[in-house]
Amino acid sequence: MPNAYISGTGFHVPPRVVTNDALRTEYGIDTTSDWIIQRTGIEERRFAEEGVGTADLALPAARDAIERAGLRPHDLDMILFATLSPDHAFPGSGCYLQAKLGLCDGNDAKFVPALDVRNQCSGFLYSLGAATSMVKSGACKHVLVVGAEKHSAALDLTTRGRTVASLFGDGAGAVVVSATEEDRGVRGWWLGADGRHASVLSQKVWDIKKRNFIPLDEEGRGLVEPSHMWAQMDGKLVFRHAVERMIGALMRACMELSITRDDIDLFFFHQANLRINQYVADQIGIPPERLVSNIQRYGNTTAATIPILLAEAERSGKLERGMKVAMVGFGSGFTWGAAVVDW
Ligand code: UT7
Repeated sequence: MPNAYISGTGFHVPPRVVTNDALRTEYGIDTTSDWIIQRTGIEERRFAEEGVGTADLALPAARDAIERAGLRPHDLDMILFATLSPDHAFPGSGCYLQAKLGLCDGNDAKFVPALDVRNQCSGFLYSLGAATSMVKSGACKHVLVVGAEKHSAALDLTTRGRTVASLFGDGAGAVVVSATEEDRGVRGWWLGADGRHASVLSQKVWDIKKRNFIPLDEEGRGLVEPSHMWAQMDGKLVFRHAVERMIGALMRACMELSITRDDIDLFFFHQANLRINQYVADQIGIPPERLVSNIQRYGNTTAATIPILLAEAERSGKLERGMKVAMVGFGSGFTWGAAVVDW
């Protein structure tokens, strides 16, 4: 059975920087940079321009990862696209990305299957687990795993929505998971979900139990209440569960691999809140220099946080071949996951 390793990483963030102060000055939100930094660690985020979709953000990240893996798009056997902000209700953004990669063009068209993964902040780790299994089983040699979000178009950028709107940013990260006979790669993945809390962090734009699934006005135009239009979150409850589940997932990973935190060189946690990550790190005894963060610059990019972190760490020289790395995430669902990789 081959091993599955990460052969390439890529990322892309849109150029427009939106500082905490800009939320106040440009959008008129009653907030302060101090409030946001103290509660979350976020200093700025990126917002994509009008007309740019989630698959558009994913494309340069995917190309970057494929090129760094020494491959071309036609070498892919599968695309897994994790997002909670797909371009449309359907089809999945993976199909849009597949066409944008040029896979369907010309004589050497290869109709690579594309699967969207809807596991929010844990979407990348769920996809990495699935990709690893596909590669280890021999079904695929190279799987592209993308996490991409365009949050900015779906944030209530008013004072009413400030608790959620100040957290999120746009961006995309990608990795290629490839087969190898070398003794390296993904050593294990651990996923979990607790659907009892599905409503605690959710965006219920429509309700398919009802006809019409979106209420209509007299002329048949859809009407969506603000509380359904925008993401709703019980932040304190999410915070509590995040800490508990992330610690649990990491401890389980260490136990099942018979390793300790000291065997792990770098920790890549989902970037939802710097305070959550610091608390988890303190509880486990992770030295600050082993915890990689970029939430200060990008905010929470949901499915994209971990692959962006990996790509940046590799480019800066912090993440090197031979290191043992742990990834941990938690989010809406509730869903969570961990993975340990020998880089
Ligand atoms: O990736 C998905 C997973 N998500 C998370 O992990 C998020 C977890 N939760 C959190 O990170 C925190 O709960 C938040 C950062 C979202 C909020 O922090 P909090 O300490 O739980 O604040 P809060 O929601 O209880 O709000 C405290 C106060 C409220 O004012 P009052 O009612 O005490 O007068 C809010 O209206 O802060 C107010 N507030 C703000 N003030 C200035 C909320 N958002 C803002 C804001 N600027 N942006």
